[in-house]
Amino acid sequence: MKAIVYHKYGSPNVLKLEEVEKPIPKDNEVLIKVHAASVNSWDWDMLRGTPIFVRLWGLLKPKYKIPGADIAGRVETVGRNVTQFQPGDEVFGDLCECGWGGFAEYVCAGENALTRKPAGMTFEEAAAIPQAAAMALQGLHDRGRIQSGQKVLINGAGGGVGTFAVQIAKSLGAEVTGIDSTKKLDMLRSIGSDHVIDYTQEDFTKIGRRYDLILDVSAHRSIFDYKRVLNPRGIYVMIGGTTARIFQTMFLGPWISMTGNKKMGILGVKPNRDLAVMVELFETGKVVPVIDRRYSLSDVPEALMYLGEGHAQGKIIINTLIS
Ligand SMILES: NC(=O)c1ccc[n+]([C@@H]2O[C@H](COP(=O)([O-])OP(=O)(O)OC[C@H]3O[C@@H](n4cnc5c(N)ncnc54)[C@H](OP(=O)(O)O)[C@@H]3O)[C@@H](O)[C@H]2O)c1
Repeated sequence: MKAIVYHKYGSPNVLKLEEVEKPIPKDNEVLIKVHAASVNSWDWDMLRGTPIFVRLWGLLKPKYKIPGADIAGRVETVGRNVTQFQPGDEVFGDLCECGWGGFAEYVCAGENALTRKPAGMTFEEAAAIPQAAAMALQGLHDRGRIQSGQKVLINGAGGGVGTFAVQIAKSLGAEVTGIDSTKKLDMLRSIGSDHVIDYTQEDFTKIGRRYDLILDVSAHRSIFDYKRVLNPRGIYVMIGGTTARIFQTMFLGPWISMTGNKKMGILGVKPNRDLAVMVELFETGKVVPVIDRRYSLSDVPEALMYLGEGHAQGKIIINTLIS
């Protein structure tokens, strides 16, 4: 089969389209013919081996040679202990806990990583959902304890996580402010942002507005700046950011949360836990994946470069049926 392969960390140039062995499922796995995959900023991090946390998956070189976590496709064969799926089933999921390998024509996955794709959802829409939507939903709901009527700020709202977060927060009755760069603001309004802020023009920590919940996809500021713009009993949830800001929130967040009336911390995402909720939000029309561009399998390096340079509005899809 064809797959995108890399043997060392680096720029998208280290990714090559190669002919490799088609995988064989273990007893508890299914073999999936991948129809679509999506690109996440985690793929960008895993490609370059930075920030340092991603070296948990290979200190000096990548442990998994085929990248790609979010996939949607059709089950081709099943291992003897698989109970939930059979050949022909349409499935989707995040493979970050079962070996990655999504940027390929076929991949094996444990059945726990997979959810049945509803008929009304395309493979591209399904592939767009798993990782980004999980972070958005768990950040807002589990860590953020979002409530109807709250003022919610989403920093970095125009990317993969943010475009799900805006729609999920709106569906739960929040008043949403989305922050991103100039070219993404119209799209943010179109998916429901009540207010938008252009971070290249304005510093939201200095314009005198306060929020009940901040979901931060792109943390570049000191934790104390965020604390200042939280209302009393407000909650700040970091999804991602610079290494310095991640460390700061990791160490100071628990201390701030214990000593005052504001809660601040980092989400540790639990992959695939909420896909049934996402199916429901999709089927009721409350959340629709924002798909920016589509690339073929051989164009994965270009797709990652496009994401890494910060152009993506919502999600980028890899059509694995076209190499
Ligand atoms: N917590 C966890 O368990 C976990 C697990 C995996 C990954 N992650 C992290 O989760 C994040 C996922 O993000 P994503 O997939 O949504 O990324 P993305 O698609 O790249 O979106 C990030 C958005 O932030 C914007 N941005 C950049 N600089 C900004 C600034 N200074 N202020 C406000 N917005 C800014 C970008 O826009 P422009 O480029 O146009 O500026 C982009 O629209 C990543 O940081 C990843 O490392 C977290």
